Amino acid sequence: MASMKSIYFLGTLSWALFLLTTPAISVSDEAFTECMAANGIKNLTSASSKNYKILLNYSIQNLRYAGSQIPKPHFIILPQTEQQVQATVTCARKGGYEIRVRSGGHSYEGTSITAEASFVIIDLMNLNAVKLHVATGTAWIGGGATLGEIYYTIAQTTRGYGFSAGSCPTVGSGGHISGGGFGLLSRKYGLAADNVVDAHVVDAEGRLLNRKTMGEDFFWALRGGGGGSWGIVVAWKIKLLKVPPTVTLFSVSRRGLRNVSTLLYKWQMAAPTLEKEFYLYAYLQAPDNRTTAASFTGLYLGRKTAVLKSLGSRFPELGIVAEDCTEMRWIDAALFFSNRGSNLSSLADRYDYNKLYFFAKSDYVRNPIPLKALVGGLKTLREQPLGSVIFDPYGGKMWEIASDFTPFPHRAGNLFGIQYSVSWYDENGDSEEYLAWLRKFYAFMEPYVSQNPRAAYVNYMDLDLGTVGNELLNGTDLVAEASKWGKKYFLDNFERLVRVKTRVDPHNVFRNVQSIPPDIRF
Ligand code: FDA
Repeated sequence: MASMKSIYFLGTLSWALFLLTTPAISVSDEAFTECMAANGIKNLTSASSKNYKILLNYSIQNLRYAGSQIPKPHFIILPQTEQQVQATVTCARKGGYEIRVRSGGHSYEGTSITAEASFVIIDLMNLNAVKLHVATGTAWIGGGATLGEIYYTIAQTTRGYGFSAGSCPTVGSGGHISGGGFGLLSRKYGLAADNVVDAHVVDAEGRLLNRKTMGEDFFWALRGGGGGSWGIVVAWKIKLLKVPPTVTLFSVSRRGLRNVSTLLYKWQMAAPTLEKEFYLYAYLQAPDNRTTAASFTGLYLGRKTAVLKSLGSRFPELGIVAEDCTEMRWIDAALFFSNRGSNLSSLADRYDYNKLYFFAKSDYVRNPIPLKALVGGLKTLREQPLGSVIFDPYGGKMWEIASDFTPFPHRAGNLFGIQYSVSWYDENGDSEEYLAWLRKFYAFMEPYVSQNPRAAYVNYMDLDLGTVGNELLNGTDLVAEASKWGKKYFLDNFERLVRVKTRVDPHNVFRNVQSIPPDIRF
């Protein structure tokens, strides 16, 4: 006789097989629009609406996902309230649509703007409020707020605080924090996700949950387990992070293959072990086929004299002098790194004026890369089409946080992260030349980066690592497929993410080509 446990298991299995073998529910615009009207939601833009194209393209950052060949949503919804997000989730499911959530639209692989099946986009651009509570050193920020809106509002309200997140102001907090969020203050304070203390989430059943009602596992998964897998984060509660009144920005450019490779070799040992107050990254891009060039740019949470003293003794080869350093406020440094000119309010402008076609990949480095390999890499950088590489130093707080504190596992032992990217502007869309160049570079680097698995950063999403398309939903072991990339992004945290997903979204309502799937074996 089957035990209760095995009956439960068989029940779960047959339910799952039913789910996976049943043809997709047919979509109904009518069911959807009626449901939305019944909930009083008017911010609904259909494919035949005048504003549809403008709205859709507004925050598509990677133009590879803007072309006419890319599947488009039936509707774009701009909820004004958390309750409208709840109703939209319910209505979209009633209408048989998949749901894509968009915050800043900067997904490297278009996961907020396209899907294989019929779908709607819930765009959170109106849920962008940033409300500070300086007395407790916290703030509630909307799931649609951009990093620039957050930085700008903090600086308008108080001088003593900042926040730890990326440098691009038009990146959305929804996707960014969902994947971790590394930036100028991460060596001091950890990732954006490490500094989240509560969240409001609309789950697959349309319920509005907070940290207490969602439970610690769900809350854990939200903070780095990747956007689009768990529910819709309508608001994050973050810790405000203390910054001194004066910080120092410094930058030097260096040229020549021998000079740059030697400096980079040294940088690998110096940058991750400097005081936590330092962020010193290396940007490598050849200006032409004959020249090797690098810039070393950084931020120090303190005065210029301390920069000169510390770098003078820990990294003298860089040759930093007083003229390379500028003292300023933290917010001015954020503006500098945003590349937005000199007007502070431009940080809060949600529109990205530098949209390009681009392709990127990431790596983690645990042992210094040999000089010879750096020379080889720098030579490849001089080959057309002249892509670029960023070395982002870890160490400091990034090494102190346990690898299972959040789903983001790349902590102690990682000297630095690498981002390889290539961008182009070409009306004809994808160009194999660019993709092939980056893949070749990535292959060249394999012996020198983390192994078994070769780790990657989920916010630098890369579909070359594997995908689950709708054709795979029919019978394929989704978890085995997803582990191909999931293990690279999340290492040992992958299994826990799958367990959480199975509990909180067993129907896989929130999904994309690289989301965490539920496991039918649980
Ligand atoms: P987008 O809206 O496309 O969302 C990305 C994913 O998250 C999608 O799957 C989406 O469905 C989901 N999602 C969005 N909002 C959600 C919500 N509220 N609830 C649940 N899921 C949601 N990273 C970094 O760590 N440091 C950095 O300095 C930078 N810099 C940078 C510069 C530029 C120009 C780009 C294009 C990207 C970066 N990034 C980065 C990477 C960035 O963190 C990553 O692409 C984020 O996922 C982008 O989040 P958005 O909300 O903008 O994207």
